[in-house]
Amino acid sequence: MKYSLSTLAVALGASLAASQCTFSITSSGGQSGILGQLSDGQNRIGGSSPQGTYTISNGAITDSLGRGCIVTPEVNQIQCDAGATATSGFEISSNGQITFNGSDVFYACPATTSSYNLYTTPVSGQSLCVMIVLSASNCFATSTQQSTMVTSTVQKTMASQATAVTSTSTAPTSTSTTCPANLSGAFEFPHLIIPVSSSSPTTAEGTSFNGTITSTTSSIFNFDIPTTYTGTCSLVFLFPLQSQLETSSFTFSGNGVLDFAQLTTVATQSTTFANMGSVKTDFGAETITPGSSTVITTFPCPAGQTVSYEVSSVSGTSLVFFQDFNPSPIGLYITSC
Ligand SMILES: *[C@@H]1O[C@H](CO)[C@@H](O)[C@H](O)[C@H]1NC(C)=O
Ligand SMILES: *[C@@H]1O[C@H](CO)[C@@H](O)[C@H](O)[C@H]1NC(C)=O
Ligand SMILES: *[C@@H]1O[C@H](CO)[C@@H](O)[C@H](O)[C@H]1NC(C)=O
Repeated sequence: MKYSLSTLAVALGASLAASQCTFSITSSGGQSGILGQLSDGQNRIGGSSPQGTYTISNGAITDSLGRGCIVTPEVNQIQCDAGATATSGFEISSNGQITFNGSDVFYACPATTSSYNLYTTPVSGQSLCVMIVLSASNCFATSTQQSTMVTSTVQKTMASQATAVTSTSTAPTSTSTTCPANLSGAFEFPHLIIPVSSSSPTTAEGTSFNGTITSTTSSIFNFDIPTTYTGTCSLVFLFPLQSQLETSSFTFSGNGVLDFAQLTTVATQSTTFANMGSVKTDFGAETITPGSSTVITTFPCPAGQTVSYEVSSVSGTSLVFFQDFNPSPIGLYITSC
């Protein structure tokens, strides 16, 4: 007999329903703060809305007034509406990160000058949306069964990507283990990507979904390392072939030589070429070509910290890519092992 994931989820939901717990939500990444709610049930980051309190049952979230939280059909906004049937597909992982349909990336897009609405996808035509992750204060997945289920769902997705790894280069390192140059285990994607350009050194270009690396522009990638990452981490660059991409694309020219460095200063949306600070550690140049997966460096995970890496062009290579972990993943990641 074949058990579907939804059968398992229902069975699991039923067993957890007896111990209903409540949680609040904090956003980090491109926009940080508590998740508040307007009186009509919209969720807001920033502004003066009172903090929201939620419950989760069978993957569906309900607010403290019993309103079902939905992902709206038009623009994928997450809001809690009176009388609505809550959208299922939400999970709180064992480290407290909220996922929807297996993804832990959410987007905050400006609603006013000081507050942001919450979405599962960026709003098309809105250039000011930022990538965020959402942490629940409580109700973490504790049962082994549920953790296993979440992990195996992620692994199923990742395994199906089966990228053709054509080269794996390893920078000299003091750590003996190297974490995988793929996303089959625990990984982090950048929560903020900031392009900086020597041709407009004082311009803050703000957040981007693309990595942009040209002879004059480099990109800074911020990673928020979970407190649970207490072992070894690797910085990896995944660069599949165009034919392996389903939801992303890239433009590439040149010999592929890129330089990777960690910065002393954590980038923000106002970071420019002029104020980006200095290089803390230069990991040197790597040749990054389509069809490669490269371990840039391996290090003790900086648990609980935000770290910034700059990727720049060494000899005129130009690479613009939409950072994406849908099959096949492309871009800069931190893997943990
Ligand atoms: C979430 O996953 C469900 C089940 O696969 C699917 O029907 C739904 O369209 C997905 N929602 C979004 C917003 O991607
Ligand atoms: C990911 O990398 C590890 C270590 O190199 C390897 O054992 C595993 O098979 C890889 N997974 C996939 C899906 O390629
Ligand atoms: C992001 O990169 C993709 C792939 O190169 C490109 O098609 C798209 O136009 C870029 N978007 C922006 C805003 O630069």
